Amino acid sequence: MKILKIDHVGIAVPNLTEGVPAWEALGFSVKDRHDVPTEKVRTAFLPVGDAQFELLEPTDPDSVIARFLEKRSGLHHVCVLVEDIDQALRELKGRGVRLLDETPRVGAGGCRVAFVHPKAAGGVLLELKQA
Ligand code: CO
Repeated sequence: MKILKIDHVGIAVPNLTEGVPAWEALGFSVKDRHDVPTEKVRTAFLPVGDAQFELLEPTDPDSVIARFLEKRSGLHHVCVLVEDIDQALRELKGRGVRLLDETPRVGAGGCRVAFVHPKAAGGVLLELKQA
């Protein structure tokens, strides 16, 4: 499998209305916003060189991000860009790596993503993404 770069770092925020200005005050600017109804989140992407921060706002109290925010806020996941997500998942599965998604799902902007279980990555929720 070919890992190309860090694509983005996902940060959970209670809402983008306050989250975005806070990050703008840090010197970042929003480039894209996406609604991801399947994940029950709204996202804002703020470029950092050729990587990005992804601010995630829950749109439903029953979403993964809302439940995460009940316990803590801040860093939620790190996403790496892979050349071929199907091949990456096959390889990881073959090595016995614990996955949250054995097949890709649709992420922000319509790209294909899959998550590796945090137990397989030192407590970090790792997202794989194919452009
Ligand atoms: Co993400």
